This record gives sequence, C-alpha cells and structure tokens, in this order.
Amino acid sequence: MADAMTGAPMRAALTDATDDGDRAILSVSALELSFGGVRALAGTDLEVRRGSITALIGPNGAGKTTLFNAITGFYRADRGNAFFDGRPLLGKPPHAIARLGMARTFQLTKTLAAMPVLDNMMLAAPDQPGERLANLILRPGGWRSREAEVRERALELLETFSLRDQAEAYAGTLSGGQRKLLELARVLMLEPRLILLDEPMAGINPALAQRLLGHIHELREGRGVTFLFIEHDMEVVMGQSDRVIVMSEGRVIAEGTPEQVSRDPHVIDAYLGSSGEAA
Ligand SMILES: Nc1ncnc2c1ncn2[C@@H]1O[C@H](COP(=O)(O)OP(=O)(O)O)[C@@H](O)[C@H]1O
Ligand SMILES: [Mg+2]
Repeated sequence: MADAMTGAPMRAALTDATDDGDRAILSVSALELSFGGVRALAGTDLEVRRGSITALIGPNGAGKTTLFNAITGFYRADRGNAFFDGRPLLGKPPHAIARLGMARTFQLTKTLAAMPVLDNMMLAAPDQPGERLANLILRPGGWRSREAEVRERALELLETFSLRDQAEAYAGTLSGGQRKLLELARVLMLEPRLILLDEPMAGINPALAQRLLGHIHELREGRGVTFLFIEHDMEVVMGQSDRVIVMSEGRVIAEGTPEQVSRDPHVIDAYLGSSGEAA
C-alpha cells in the first residue's frame, strides 16, 4: 500500500529523468577561487552529462585540480554554485559529498600503505551509525553481519580488479599500477554515481592503463556510473571519452564531443598559447 502511494511520484521522477534539465548529474556555475593574486577559478561554468565518460583537459595551471578540490569540499570557493544531482555541494565537508554519491580517488597515504589491501577496502566503506545502532538494539549480532557484508563486497571488488590474491598483502607492496586499481576499487565501496579521477593513467604501464580503462567502461555500462576524469594523454581523451570539457585560465573555453573539441580554434590557441607563455 505504501508502494501504491509512492508509485505515482516515482514514475513522475523517472519521466523527468529523461528531460533535458536532468541530463546533467553535475552542474557548476560561475565558480571562483583565488589563491592570493592567482585566479585559479575565474568563473567556471560546466555540466557533466549523466552516464557520460567526460574528459576534463587544459594546459597546466588551467584550474582542473582546483575545480575538483572546490566541488568535493577540500577548498572553499569564493563565489559560485555547484550541484550534484540537484543538491548543493558548496559548504559541505568532503565526507558528506562522498556520501551523496560523488566520490574521488585518493593516492594511498603512508598509513594506508602500511595496512593490508582488504583493510584499505573495508575502511573505505561508509559508516552507517543509524543502521548500526538499530542493529545493536533490534538484532544482536547485526553489527557483525554488517561487517561481513562489507568484507564480502570488498572481496568481490578485489576479485573484479584482479587484486583478490593481494587481499592480505600490505598495500605499500603493490606496484604503481595496482595501487591505481586499488584507489578506484576503494572508491567503489561508496557505491558512487559520479567518480572524479585526477590523471588516473599517470605513471602506470600501458597494460594496466588498459585494464583501468576497461573497468571504467564496465562500470559505466553495467552500473551507469558517470566519470569525470582529468587527462593529459590526448589519445586516451579522444579514444575513451564521449564528452570533453576544456579549461584554460580558470574558465571553460570549449565543450563537446572529442571531434568537436579537437577542431575548436580556441582549444588549439589555448594549448599553443600556454606553451608560448611558459617561456
Ligand atoms: N594550494 C594552492 N595554493 C596556491 N596556489 C595554488 C594552489 N593550488 C593551485 N594553485 C594555483 O592555481 C592555479 C591552478 O592550478 P591547478 O588547479 O593545479 O591546475 P591544473 O590542475 O589545471 O594543472 C595554478 O596557478 C596553481 O599554481
Ligand atoms: Mg592538476
């Protein structure tokens, strides 16, 4: 009966999801952030389409990493707006943003490197204090079953990422490429709908890079996860993304399919211009 009552609004929401207004899972408008005199974000406007694999490119210093930090709660923007699935992001702490379903990968810290791979995964699972309390009261042993669930999910993900055999190994003993896979696997413990990756292929060998890309496509196709990734390798950008957003000097200067963007004179100027200015 509760279903019958909520059925109508749910159908309405599903219909809305096909409307143009709901195509964006992330929307950022007029975002500004300065470090002293440096305007790292100078009025950044962008939208990331739901279900897309979107590449964020631009010359060094364009503000790409700062944008990630500002929308995930690590830096405080001076002005502007950012919404994930219609919910405001600015002013929220990083863990609250991750819990909304927007997650980013992190390099393994020293502390995490000194822990087994499986513990790394389990630590990444969200705390559910309400559920935990209810479990303690309503069914003793519920906490254990929650832990067992988390462990099972962690092992499944490790299996998917071909890291199952390393579950008991210290994370610090993994190769650079395996660490990148672990970083992505950890984030998946949060079951995010949008994953932000900052140069995920940097410093890993081509075979592992291919595996990482394979996982990204599988997650998009299989679970509908949206990806926004910062990438320098143009071959990867052109071959793997369906949308490309180009930043330069704290602003978005172009957006479109890889083909559209690669022909855009502003983009060509930004890259040539920045290498000229670097001198
Ligand atoms: N924590 C910081 N403190 C001071 N300046 C910063 C900081 N982070 C980034 N910047 C500056 O902001 C600008 C944008 O940097 P960044 O976002 O790292 O660019 P990108 O990731 O596109 O290479 C650069 O001029 C950079 O030096
Ligand atoms: Mg950067």
